[in-house]
Amino acid sequence: MPEDKDTRVALVTGGARGLGRAIAEALLAQGVRLMLVDILGDRLEQTRADLAAAGGTCRSFVTDISQRDNCRAAVEATIAAYGRLDVLINAAALMRFNHAVDVPEAEFNRIMQVNAAAPFWFAQAAIPHLLESQGNIVNVLSQSALMGTSYIVPYSMSKAAVMQLTKSLAVEYVDKPIRINAVAPGSMMTEISSEAPIPDGVDFAKMKRYSGERPPADPAAVAAVVAFISSPAAQGVHGAIWTADNGVTAG
Ligand SMILES: NC(=O)c1ccc[n+]([C@@H]2O[C@H](COP(=O)([O-])OP(=O)(O)OC[C@H]3O[C@@H](n4cnc5c(N)ncnc54)[C@H](O)[C@@H]3O)[C@@H](O)[C@H]2O)c1
Repeated sequence: MPEDKDTRVALVTGGARGLGRAIAEALLAQGVRLMLVDILGDRLEQTRADLAAAGGTCRSFVTDISQRDNCRAAVEATIAAYGRLDVLINAAALMRFNHAVDVPEAEFNRIMQVNAAAPFWFAQAAIPHLLESQGNIVNVLSQSALMGTSYIVPYSMSKAAVMQLTKSLAVEYVDKPIRINAVAPGSMMTEISSEAPIPDGVDFAKMKRYSGERPPADPAAVAAVVAFISSPAAQGVHGAIWTADNGVTAG
C-alpha cells in the first residue's frame, strides 16, 4: 500500500523531547500514528500522554538504541502494535563538547553507537517493512555533517557517517519503492547543548563559525521540514540532504 495520510505509521527515535517530539507533533497533525522511542522513560511517557491527550494515536518504547538488538526490538514492537511501518525518523543523538585530544574512548564509542550505528540498525530492521508500505526514512543530521565543527569532533564524524548512510542507501534502493533522505539542522534551543558543558580553554571564535548569525531555530520549524519530506507530497525527494540551518553552511 502506498504512503497514505490516514493510515501511516511512523517510528521516531529521540521522541521524548526536543526535535524528536516536535517531529512527532508535526506528524500527528498529518494524522500519522506514532511509535516514539527514547532512553528517557519518564519524559517519553509524558510526551506520549501529551500527544494522546491531543487526540493522537501514540505508543512508546523505552530503550537504549546503542545496541543493535534494541533497535530491532523497537521496530518489531511497532509492527506488533500497528501491523505496518511507513516512516522511520532517526532523530536521537548525543553530543559532548571536548578538546579532541581529551575525548575518552568510552565517550567516542557511545557517540558513534547512538548517532551513527543506531540509524543503520534501525534502517536495516525497518527496510523490509518500508518496502511493503512504500514508505521512507528521514535521518536527522546536523550542519556538523557538512562543515568542520570544533570541540565536537566525534559528533561531527558521526553525523557525516549518517549523511553517507543516507546517500548510500538511497543508491542501493534507487530501483525500489522506498525514499531515503536527511535533514541537516543548525542550532536549535534544545537540551542536547544545554546538557553538554563546555570545557575550559576553548576558543569561542572557532565555535562562532558554526553558531551562525541568526538566533537558534525553533525545533517546530525544523520539524515541519522533516514532516514534509516524510509525507507523500515529497514523492520526488530521494537521496537528498536538506539543510535547515539558517544559512550557516551557505558560507
Ligand atoms: N539542538 C541543536 O542545536 C541541533 C543541531 C543540529 C542537529 N541536531 C540534531 O537534532 C536531533 C535531536 O536533538 P535535540 O536537539 O532535540 O536534542 P535532545 O537531547 O533534546 O534530543 C535527543 C534525544 O535522543 C535521545 N537519546 C539519546 N541517546 C539515546 C539512546 N542511547 N537511546 C535512546 N534515545 C537516546 C535523548 O534521550 C533525547 O530525547 C539530534 O539528532 C541532534 O543531533 C540538534
